[in-house]
Amino acid sequence: MHEVIDINDLKGAVSSEPAALIPAFCKTVGNLLATLPLEEVPAAIAEHLPVLLSCPDLLTPEQQSLSGDDYEKHEVFLCPHDEFSVLAVVWPAGIHSPIHDHQTWCTFGVLSGEIQETIYEAADGAPDCRDACASSSTHHVAGSVAHMPVNASNIHCMHNPGTTPAVSIHIYGGNAAKLGANVDKIYTAWA
Ligand SMILES: [Fe+2]
Repeated sequence: MHEVIDINDLKGAVSSEPAALIPAFCKTVGNLLATLPLEEVPAAIAEHLPVLLSCPDLLTPEQQSLSGDDYEKHEVFLCPHDEFSVLAVVWPAGIHSPIHDHQTWCTFGVLSGEIQETIYEAADGAPDCRDACASSSTHHVAGSVAHMPVNASNIHCMHNPGTTPAVSIHIYGGNAAKLGANVDKIYTAWA
């Protein structure tokens, strides 16, 4: 029987002990994976992520750094059992990601700045289809959370429409160091 630790119980510690927050959050994610059907996990993590996003000193300077013009991922935590990974992604002002999908489920939230996320649907059901049609767009601000489904279409594009870098926190299924970019396909917008 797993003891479920609710990270919301740590709200009072957010400002005074940010170093304790990431381990507590990761323990919560591990408990959710151990106790819920996998299909319910991304949404359940999304309920806990705002506590992490409310901590302004959550990341080290290195985890928020940019070394070039492209967006950059930094490891925050890798589950030792390869069940999930927590990454910080830094988005330069104005950047667009490719239209892409993922090999695994994902929950993400904005720590600082703003992100415009556009959701796409594949233009047809063929396995080799690389054309995608935009179906919705959401403007995420600091504190916003979203999640992508397990074993279903999860095509999207991330854009920083602001004038300063944005930082987002992503929780992916699997070990990000072993999965690499965790992108299944790159798509072209189809009008
Ligand atoms: Fe993505």
